Amino acid sequence: MPVFHRHLTQSFPRVVRGEGCWLFDDAGKAYLDGSGGALVANVGHGVIEIAEAVGRQAAKVAYASGAIFANEPVAELAEELDEVLPESLAYSYFLCSGSEAIEASVKLARQYWRERGEAGKWKVVSRVPSYHGNTLTALSLSGREHYRAIYGPLLTEFPRVPAPDRYRRPHGDTWDGTAVVREIERQGPETVAAFLAEPIIGSSLGAMAPEREYYERVAEACRAHGVLFIADEVMAGMGRTGRWFSFEHFGVVPDIVVCGKGLSGGYAPLSALIASREVVDTIRDGSGAFVHAQTWSHMPVTAAAGVATLRYLKRHGLVGRVASMESEFFDRLEKLRAHPAVGDVRGRGLLAGVELVADRATKRPFARRERVAERVAAAALANGLVVWSNAGHLENGDGDILMLGPPFTVSTGEIDEIVARLARALDTTLGT
Ligand SMILES: Cc1ncc(COP(=O)(O)O)c(C=O)c1O
Repeated sequence: MPVFHRHLTQSFPRVVRGEGCWLFDDAGKAYLDGSGGALVANVGHGVIEIAEAVGRQAAKVAYASGAIFANEPVAELAEELDEVLPESLAYSYFLCSGSEAIEASVKLARQYWRERGEAGKWKVVSRVPSYHGNTLTALSLSGREHYRAIYGPLLTEFPRVPAPDRYRRPHGDTWDGTAVVREIERQGPETVAAFLAEPIIGSSLGAMAPEREYYERVAEACRAHGVLFIADEVMAGMGRTGRWFSFEHFGVVPDIVVCGKGLSGGYAPLSALIASREVVDTIRDGSGAFVHAQTWSHMPVTAAAGVATLRYLKRHGLVGRVASMESEFFDRLEKLRAHPAVGDVRGRGLLAGVELVADRATKRPFARRERVAERVAAAALANGLVVWSNAGHLENGDGDILMLGPPFTVSTGEIDEIVARLARALDTTLGT
């Protein structure tokens, strides 16, 4: 039986091994993993101590239902997270994917308000463009027409406001946060349960970091109107931007945080829903149970991968290393601007977005039918470089972004190699 791959007309190289920033296929070709796949492989490939921790836990006890038993790796993971989180974020609930944890975060916000006697609060304000996952509520909350179009009748309508975009809209109400505040007021705060956003916007806006004032204003309005702030840290969290969580850059503390990807560095499918003491204690003292059971929640083996990954990050000081590599990384990436199709290079830490445009002076995007981001990513792969392409983030469905996010252990020589291979891919795809 053929495997049902996501792209049905394409053949994929068969990966057989990984080591550090490198992947190898069955023909022996080496690929420099410039994006950690989908921004996942934060500690690099082939870290034996993490693999062994996963294996040891599987041998001890692989599965015991989280609805019946507590287990040691889950308790340890909560402790490891507790050390790097603000004090108010006191509880963590473990799932497998970012999408699942986003769904769970919205349900938790809704349940919280209901248990406080405010049953009218259910809406979640999110932004366009944005990406919060591909399950139906996560997709409903995502501002990505490209992913949503054929599923329209299955999606729920939520209020959405334009995301802050320094490259295309550097001034005005979308940049300073007023658009969010106004939307909460327009909807009626008594109907709004939460505001959902990636503090530093990952793939959907190519590593865009708003100003501190944006979140100060939004967080203040959320507090004033009784709206929970859910931070989606699936891509930008776990050290990727040089802080443990990207909200730390803005001096705000969310009520709920969602993590995934780098939480286990790719060694097991693991996500976390982290919530404030106020939110969880309200439910504990009310109905006493979060109405969200899943077979794989609180799974010992995936939690063991998270514990080993967090300990590895801490022992090797890798989040600090990301912060200290930031300027070298971006200085080198700036060289990509030598190609006329590179409109912008931006990001924080070791998370970068390269926005490609047909005309740099007017910022006119390429037509989507040209599939520029995908073609450049394919040319890069042929050159032995993995980059993550993101297409269609603009309102009319155009938009080409390449995401870079190498493992935190990347060397300066490897960064030079990423830049050289990507520059070559731009030349071969678009000319010089
Ligand atoms: C910001 C953000 N949120 C949520 C998700 C969904 O995570 P997953 O693919 O693990 O379901 C992603 C995935 O790319 C993401 O980047």
